[in-house]
Amino acid sequence: MKSAYLRSAALAAVLVAGGTAAQAESLTLYCAADEAWCQQIKTGFEEKTGITVDMTRKSSGETYAQVRAEAGNPKGDVWWGGTGDPHLQAAQEGLTEEYMSPMRGELHDWAIKQAEAAGNKTIGVYSGALGFGYNKDLLAKNGLPEPKCWEDLTKAEYKGQIQIANPNSSGTAYTTLATMVQLFGEDKGFDYMKALHKNVNQYTKSGSAPIKAAGLGETTIGIVFMHDAVAQTAAGFPIVTVAPCEGTGYEIGSMSIIKGARNPEAAKKFYDWALSAEMQGKAKDVKSFQLPSNKSAAVSELTPDLSTIKLIDYDFAKYGSSEERKRLLSKWDTEVSTLPQ
Ligand code: F6P
Repeated sequence: MKSAYLRSAALAAVLVAGGTAAQAESLTLYCAADEAWCQQIKTGFEEKTGITVDMTRKSSGETYAQVRAEAGNPKGDVWWGGTGDPHLQAAQEGLTEEYMSPMRGELHDWAIKQAEAAGNKTIGVYSGALGFGYNKDLLAKNGLPEPKCWEDLTKAEYKGQIQIANPNSSGTAYTTLATMVQLFGEDKGFDYMKALHKNVNQYTKSGSAPIKAAGLGETTIGIVFMHDAVAQTAAGFPIVTVAPCEGTGYEIGSMSIIKGARNPEAAKKFYDWALSAEMQGKAKDVKSFQLPSNKSAAVSELTPDLSTIKLIDYDFAKYGSSEERKRLLSKWDTEVSTLPQ
């Protein structure tokens, strides 16, 4: 009798525990920055709040495509990081939710401008300038001159020496395409991408892969955000980071709440936390050297100083618009990627 009582008490305890587990808060996070930072964010938020995070890491364009494909039955709650252009496109297409975080007062103007350009359906979480990096040992071994400008990368001597990502999957590569169009005008910008194509040995899926490959000696030059090149030097690889002489574009890495999120309260908690100085200041511990959007977040001395780099007046609203992003990508697909090398 006593053991029957104990058994049913144990069963009741299991049911209660099971019930609690079923109600425990969770969050599905689509993360589009570096894997190590995405992991740090997942663990950091779980430790801070007890909310379980199911995190998937993909590149910017890939994440946009997933959010769009799932629009009829959304699975993700928050899309954090990656370049801002596809976040703006998603906002315009009604794939993300408006949210006014109480943390907005702590942010740089550029982060708020990004929000305002999207009816507050996205917000800036970091910024960083586009550039390239090269493996100085390989460069010397191949007897190549130091590239200093975008134009240098189209010279015949760099044939087969350059890697860049595919702009359909990668926000870094889309930023490169949009930068060339803004820097040189559309016709000359596309001529540039065609000339560059002759020297490219591989189009990768992820934007930072080319400089990781350069670090390992698999390619000499990688076109990436400058902070990603700096991260390879910090990791001990012989990488030199270049701010191109003609000037360059930059990103406003962004964050959005996905429309129809299944866990809207957890999504807002994450969003507010992701704008805090505490969260953003830890990026440098995993060698992510972007400029944080929270004005009080600790900035690494390795973070490229944007005020010393010749930045173009990047038109985020135009190049993040659904029409323009689709048009430029399909033009690159048909006019550049199909050319012989
Ligand atoms: O690795 C970090 C990073 O360069 C971010 O600064 C940027 O937003 C993101 O990666 C872009 O990645 P991808 O080009 O793969 O979309």
